Amino acid sequence: MALIDLRSDTVTHPTEAMLEAMRNAELGDDGREGDPTVRRLEALAAERTGKQAALYLPSGTQANLIALLSHTGRGSEVLLHEGAHIISYENYGLSLLGSLFYRPIPGRRGAMDVAALENALGSGLSAKGLAPSLVCMETTHNNASGAVLPLEHMAAVYKLARRHGANVHTDGARLFNAAVALGAPAERIAQHTDTICFCVSKGLSAPVGSLLCGPAELIARARHFRRMTGGSMRQSGLLAAAGIVALQTMVERLAEDHRSARQLAAGLQRIDASLVDAGEIETNIVRVEVSASRVPAAQWSADLKALGVWAGDYGASQLRFVTHRHIGAQQVEAAIAAVGTLWQRYAASAVTRSAA
Ligand SMILES: Cc1ncc(COP(=O)(O)O)c(C=O)c1O
Repeated sequence: MALIDLRSDTVTHPTEAMLEAMRNAELGDDGREGDPTVRRLEALAAERTGKQAALYLPSGTQANLIALLSHTGRGSEVLLHEGAHIISYENYGLSLLGSLFYRPIPGRRGAMDVAALENALGSGLSAKGLAPSLVCMETTHNNASGAVLPLEHMAAVYKLARRHGANVHTDGARLFNAAVALGAPAERIAQHTDTICFCVSKGLSAPVGSLLCGPAELIARARHFRRMTGGSMRQSGLLAAAGIVALQTMVERLAEDHRSARQLAAGLQRIDASLVDAGEIETNIVRVEVSASRVPAAQWSADLKALGVWAGDYGASQLRFVTHRHIGAQQVEAAIAAVGTLWQRYAASAVTRSAA
């Protein structure tokens, strides 16, 4: 039985068109004079985000780190949502490798509370003239079930940061999911931030890579930090070729992943309303709260896997399902059925336990 892999959209494999483009890619040495295919991808990324320049990097984590290093200096303060990927899953590279402090800002659905942000900007190191601050946003927001930041919110954060002399970086690992959900070009999102990064290796299905986009001067600095952190690759045009195909052909179809996620959430909500609020699902990530079952998330994910469905478990009570190109309506229905089976199984064993 083939596992239905809903752990992440990073599990997507390259398309035939990508493999063909990789086979035919014009190559150079990106650590020396440059690889022509990488340069093409960088130009396309800059164009799609309306920025002056872009830099191709091996991963989203490295793109965020390089952005932070390029914007700040030792001892700067980074202000970001309390559930940001940068402080949840990137092993604190900003502190260990960047000598940066960070301040988590509370908020709802991935959007920082603007009053709390203003308060932090007005009382932090930058307010004392000690070090500049950087504000980071994230859209779509991983920990907030793929929520999309409203453009008005991004505009307000950007304006506020500007007023306090802080730059803004946006982690747009799933930028094109946000763009498709908003029905707006990526450029409209990117206009509310100095730099933005996005991954071609997630729902867009390219095998490897992320792009950091921003002002030419900052991207030139970023190129030095990329070398410093070992991110300069060589015939990376081989990979970038797939990234070009991803940007040219894979963006519109993300709407299908969003439909699958809504179908999944609606099915899970029918099993029990405590599991998920389907109305909140905007893109391709479905976070599921299993605390009402009194069974730990790790147990859920092990039992789901035994039923052929692979989901991620986060903390004691959360599961995460991410829809992508290899997941169709049939796989979604199978996942809903597997959750339903376990829900009943756990309920039955709770009854037996209480009767004993
Ligand atoms: C919001 C967000 N930022 C950054 C990353 C890191 O990307 P990568 O896995 O390529 O390092 C991810 C990965 O899932 C993510 O969801």
